[in-house]
Amino acid sequence: MEPLPEVTNPRVIDGRKIAQRIEGQVKKDVEVFVNEHGIKPALATILVGEHPPSKLYVKLKHWACKRVGIISEDHKFPQETTEEEIIKLIETLNNRPEVHGILVQLPMPKHIDERTVMMRIAPEKDVDGFTPFNMGKMLIGREGFVPCTPKGIIRALEEHNIDPKGMEVVVVGHSNVVGKPAAMMLLNRNATVKICHVFTKDLASQTREADLLIVATGVRGLIKADMVKEGAVVFDVGITWKDEKVYGDVDFEDVLSKVKLISPVPGGVGPMTIAILMEHTLQAAKLQN
Ligand code: GUN
Repeated sequence: MEPLPEVTNPRVIDGRKIAQRIEGQVKKDVEVFVNEHGIKPALATILVGEHPPSKLYVKLKHWACKRVGIISEDHKFPQETTEEEIIKLIETLNNRPEVHGILVQLPMPKHIDERTVMMRIAPEKDVDGFTPFNMGKMLIGREGFVPCTPKGIIRALEEHNIDPKGMEVVVVGHSNVVGKPAAMMLLNRNATVKICHVFTKDLASQTREADLLIVATGVRGLIKADMVKEGAVVFDVGITWKDEKVYGDVDFEDVLSKVKLISPVPGGVGPMTIAILMEHTLQAAKLQN
């Protein structure tokens, strides 16, 4: 992969730098944990099919494990694998004490119901925070394992000393992976939150009201400058691949001069998501020991 350019613009959130800091801390904490318990934290990943971006993301997660001293197990399956086979593996991993975290990479092939699969992960090994138990805890304001991307956003806000309390937040996209949990976690921090999606009637009139705009739709360049409030903080969580390059949901060049802060694609929320996953895997190992 090409190295990313240095982030020098103070308006641009350096996701890689934040991620490096998180991973640095995890690495130290892993060493302490290993010395105290004689056990290495371990993450098992499950990937079904040949979706090229998913293969890359899983590879990046394994590299991150290596950097911080976490053992990682790679379970790859062909496209036609059944839901039952995946559930059988999850049950096995649930019952193996030396595996602390289980991650099922999404999206899964159409014939597999992702929610059914996710529900079978033991909540204490659910490092992605996708099980109904962990999602439910988040809903009642008891955040334990929460989805890694929204947690990365919260961490980036903290890094930049931005308190979401009282902010007008607009989340565009209502997925279980980003939109819904991001909205809930910001509501937990007393922001005023609105969730927009593909059926929202006049998206621009909503996004223009946002002090904090989070966009996770997968529609390349959806958000233009005239849809953004002057001085807004913008998180671009979209990723579209074209000709080996990645693009976000926000027209970065167009909005840059208008925003207070923006997370770029690539180099924004992506690395932070992976760093949080490392943190969660260590946390899971601690909880189970
Ligand atoms: N696909 C896109 N984002 C994620 C994520 O955070 N976790 C998993 N498991 N799959 C994803």
